[in-house]
Amino acid sequence: MQPFFTRLPLVGRLVLDTGMLIAAIALIDPRASGLTVHESVGIALGTVLFAHLTLNWPWVVAVTKKMFANLPRETRLNQVLNGLLFIFMAVAIGSGIAISREALPALGIMTNGSRV
Ligand code: HEM
Repeated sequence: MQPFFTRLPLVGRLVLDTGMLIAAIALIDPRASGLTVHESVGIALGTVLFAHLTLNWPWVVAVTKKMFANLPRETRLNQVLNGLLFIFMAVAIGSGIAISREALPALGIMTNGSRV
């Protein structure tokens, strides 16, 4: 039996993905949103990104297995772009957490950013 989250209906997935798009746009300019909002949205996006990957894991596994086999060029390109997007997101969120000045220090977690 499939776990609950892989049975989320299409509308649920669309809401999740639209939320991620809005969050990604909001993250572009921390000065416009304020650092507290920027950091909170970034941490939330990291959590939702994890859910998004879990939901679509069957696609990731299926396409990765066929990566070097007979796969439409467009699907292969999509997979490469998705991989790069994941790496960039992980680096942005990971480095953001490392220099957090508001969200993590507010939780009592000291970071590189909280020492300056
Ligand atoms: C995909 C997620 C993220 C994106 C795209 C992103 C993007 C950015 C951008 C474009 C800047 C401005 C850099 C500059 O002007 O030099 C920035 C600064 C910053 N970000 Fe993020 N960020 C993300 C996640 C996070 C997270 C999760 C945190 C912390 C929990 C965080 C904390 C910070 C801090 C502390 C700064 C420095 C602000 C300053 O020095 O004025 N970011 N981020």
